[in-house]
Amino acid sequence: MDLPQHIAIIMDGNGRWSKDRAKPRHFGHKAGLETLKTIIEVAAKRGVGYLTVFAFGIENWLRPTDEVNYLMGLFLTALRRDIGRLHQNGIRVQFIGNKQQVHADLSIPMEEAESLTQHNTKMTLIVAFNYSGRWDLQQACQHLAQKVAANELTPAEITDSIISQHLSTAAWPDPDLFIRTSGEQRLSNFLLWQLSYAELYFTNKHWPDFDETELDKAIAFYASRERRFGKISEQIGSEDA
Ligand code: IPE
Ligand code: IPE
Ligand code: MG
Repeated sequence: MDLPQHIAIIMDGNGRWSKDRAKPRHFGHKAGLETLKTIIEVAAKRGVGYLTVFAFGIENWLRPTDEVNYLMGLFLTALRRDIGRLHQNGIRVQFIGNKQQVHADLSIPMEEAESLTQHNTKMTLIVAFNYSGRWDLQQACQHLAQKVAANELTPAEITDSIISQHLSTAAWPDPDLFIRTSGEQRLSNFLLWQLSYAELYFTNKHWPDFDETELDKAIAFYASRERRFGKISEQIGSEDA
């Protein structure tokens, strides 16, 4: 079966999952963290090379303060409590997002997690935290403009691949499969450039209910797709493809 090398997930629906159970929203976030730990292990077991998850978007600062504080606390707990196990399992952990605006209480353990796991090769887990796709394009444009101003680059040299190399995801291939749980069919400012050719998979399952079986369904959906990248079906798999 054709396995996606890189899966990107918008883990959505923690709030609605809580509401269905007449529980406060943080209950769903806590359950969602457990789901994430399961999905990381299953993805690694299946042989996925890269797993990118949207943990906290720049726009999510607009949520009520108590929810934001809970999410920050949960993130810190996960950094302290769960990184050791990821490390033991050979997972490399990397963060993307605007790190300059992240408080040192979080940015220090984030850096520690990256350096602890830097030589692991089983799978790379990329956590998008304080991330947005437009922010990523903005910071890439700023770096490119600085290089042009310093005469290190000409405007004509700004190609598709040069732009990719200035995004926060420069080190990794673009996602092959995008998953969003909980029924919403939008990108919510996630990996805008990088998802250009990803296969898009949506499920009504809320994130806390997403599990090994659900991930396998998404992987099977991916395997059933023909990726043409602009070509026609007859060219795929033939010599001139
Ligand atoms: C996603 O679940 C989790 C984060 C944004 C961290 P939501 O909190 O968006 O859940 P819904 O969309 O309100 O159900
Ligand atoms: C996107 O989900 C962000 C994360 C999952 C971290 P949201 O639930 O915040 O997205 P919108 O606001 O419904 O588009
Ligand atoms: Mg949501």
